[in-house]
Amino acid sequence: MIIAIDGPAASGKSTVAKEIAKRLKISYLDTGAMYRALTWKALQTKVDLSDEMAFAKLANDAKISFSESLIDGRLHIKTYLNDIDVTKEIRLPRVSNSVSIVAKVPAVRKAMVKIQRELAVGKDVVAEGRDIGTCVFPEAEHKFFLFASTEERARRRCVELKDKGHDIKVSSLEKEIISRDTIDSTRPNSPLVKARDAHVIDTTEKNAEEVIEEVLHVIKGEN
Ligand code: DC
Repeated sequence: MIIAIDGPAASGKSTVAKEIAKRLKISYLDTGAMYRALTWKALQTKVDLSDEMAFAKLANDAKISFSESLIDGRLHIKTYLNDIDVTKEIRLPRVSNSVSIVAKVPAVRKAMVKIQRELAVGKDVVAEGRDIGTCVFPEAEHKFFLFASTEERARRRCVELKDKGHDIKVSSLEKEIISRDTIDSTRPNSPLVKARDAHVIDTTEKNAEEVIEEVLHVIKGEN
């Protein structure tokens, strides 16, 4: 079984997808982390952000893997690029600010989608991203599209980053989110768009548990 959870930046996908994976005892796939890992590498190696050929090479040479552990009842995921743990680095603001540039390159997407499909072979998976229900797993049994107001998403990101020791203004997070949404949803290659058969949830005024319950109701066919 594949459960696809798509939506714009900070719409609550990760929190919900991880908890669904935990409760249903299935695998979790964070596809955004893969684009972030490549972006981190591009920044590390000082690849010019307009050099699409270099991104393509990076993507084709990349080995991306994940490990999962339960800590205090919560699912924690580590992301590895070529066996290096990049879990913390990929959440840095400089990565967030550039990731959409890397993710819109067709050769990068092709390489990442191939890995995403391989990672799901023979497994039950909840996968989150932008194009899961439309492109990566169009045959997914369950598709969800989460969204929330820009203000609320920026506020959530701000709290999340504060917890990790980064003090970034809500206004600059709002700008970053709007810029990413624009690039992600206007790129020609598998843009962020709701799948026709997705169940849409506006998370603006809902807490995580309410969204999780709604997702579980739909999966169990109780709606
Ligand atoms: O979900 P996230 O914020 O970690 O994703 C980071 C970026 O990666 C996002 O701005 C666009 C890109 N992305 C994508 O293009 N396709 C996906 N399936 C997942 C993420």
